[in-house]
Amino acid sequence: MTTVRLGIIGMGNIGRHHADYLLAGKVNRAVLTAVADAVAPLDRYTGLERFKEGEELLRSGQVDAVLIATPHYQHTSLGIAALGQGLHVLVEKPISVHKADADRLIAAHAEHPDRVFAAMFQLRTEPRYLKIRRLLDAGELGEVTRVSWIITDWYRTEAYYASGGWRATWKGEGGGVLLNQCPHNLDILQWLCGMPARVRGFCQLGRFHDIEVEDNVTAYFEWSSGATGVFITSTGEAPGTNRFEIAGTRGRLVLENHRLLFTRNETPMTDFSRAATSGFAKPDVWHVEIPFDTVPAHHSTLTQNFVDAILDGTPLIVPGAEGSRSVELANAMLYSSLEEKTVHLPLDGAAYERRLGSLIEQSRHEKKVRAVAAEDLSRSFNR
Ligand SMILES: NC(=O)c1ccc[n+]([C@@H]2O[C@H](COP(=O)([O-])OP(=O)(O)OC[C@H]3O[C@@H](n4cnc5c(N)ncnc54)[C@H](O)[C@@H]3O)[C@@H](O)[C@H]2O)c1
Repeated sequence: MTTVRLGIIGMGNIGRHHADYLLAGKVNRAVLTAVADAVAPLDRYTGLERFKEGEELLRSGQVDAVLIATPHYQHTSLGIAALGQGLHVLVEKPISVHKADADRLIAAHAEHPDRVFAAMFQLRTEPRYLKIRRLLDAGELGEVTRVSWIITDWYRTEAYYASGGWRATWKGEGGGVLLNQCPHNLDILQWLCGMPARVRGFCQLGRFHDIEVEDNVTAYFEWSSGATGVFITSTGEAPGTNRFEIAGTRGRLVLENHRLLFTRNETPMTDFSRAATSGFAKPDVWHVEIPFDTVPAHHSTLTQNFVDAILDGTPLIVPGAEGSRSVELANAMLYSSLEEKTVHLPLDGAAYERRLGSLIEQSRHEKKVRAVAAEDLSRSFNR
C-alpha cells in the first residue's frame, strides 16, 4: 500500500475541518474517499462515497482507515466496529465517555494489533508543551512538588449547548466541560506529570447554563510522590484564566498569556532549607523566559502521523490507548464529586459506568435544541 484511503464518520464541526485539510492535500499519501453523517448534508462532497450511517462506511470496502468524529459515545462503538472490519482507526477526543468503554476499545485493538489505533490529542504537538516536557525530562525543575492548572477560559454560551441534542446530557455526551473541553488539558497534564494516585473533585452541575452536566469544576490531585495538584475549569467564566504552573525543588514554571517563565532556584529548595542559618532566607533565583513557537497545533499533523504509522510504522504521537488516561481523570473527578469522597486510581470503571447509568436513568432534564449561526471552528480552540 502506498496511499491510505481515508473515511470520516461524523461531518459536524470537526469532521468538516478534517475533510477540508485532507481535500486541500495537507496530508501526504492520504486520500479522502468517503464520508458519513446521519444528519449533516453531504452535498458538497461530490466525488466521494457518501453514507448516512457510519457502519455503512465501515463495511463499504472504500477505506483502509477511518477518522471517527461523531459524538463521544460512538467513538467506542464505531471504533470497535472499525477494528473488527480490519480498518486502522483515528478517534477524536475523548476516546470514550467512560473508562469501561475505553477498556473495551483498547481490548478490541488488542485483538487486531497490526492495525494502527491513534487518538486526536493535537496539543501534544504544541511547542509550549513540548518545551515543558523537555525541561521536566532534563530534571530542570528537580522533583515536582505542586501542579496547578486554572483553565477557565473555555467560556461557552447557552447557544453552544443548544446547538446539538447530544451536548451536555448524560445520555448523549456523558459529561460536560470535563468530557468535551478538558480532555486536551487532562491529556497534557498526565503526559507531563503522570497519573495522580488520588483525586477529590467538586463538580457543579448546570451552575451557569441550563444543562444537567458539570460546567464548573475544582479538583485536588495527589501523586504517589507526594506532589499535589489543583485543576480548576469552567465554561461559565468570562474573561477566564489559563494559567499552568508546575513547582519543583529547583524552581517554578508558569505558562500564561503566551509566555513560559521559569524562576530557577540557584540552590534546590531542599538543600537550601537544610543548610540555611536564617529562618527567613530564600534561595537566590534566575528569571528565565523560555521562548516557544506560537503556532497552534494542527490536527493535520496528527493525521499525517497516523498515515505515516500505517505506511511506514512511524511511532504514534498519541497511541489510542493513552487516550484512556484523560477519560479516567475526568471520570474520577465526577465520581468523587457525586459520591462526595476521595477516589483512588486506578478508578473502578465498572462502578463509574453504573453511576453514569443511574444518572441517565434519573435524568429529567428537558434538552432545548435550536439552530445556531455557522461557527468559525478555530474560535473553539483554547489559546
Ligand atoms: N480534537 C479537537 O480539537 C476537537 C474539536 C472539536 C470536537 N472534537 C470532538 O469531535 C467530536 C464531534 O464534535 P463536533 O463538535 O464536530 O460535533 P457535531 O455535533 O458538530 O458533529 C457530530 C456529527 O456526527 C454525526 N453522527 C453521529 N452519529 C453518527 C453515526 N453513527 N454515523 C454517521 N454520523 C453520525 C452527527 O449527525 C453530527 O453531524 C466530539 O467527540 C468532540 O469532542 C474534537
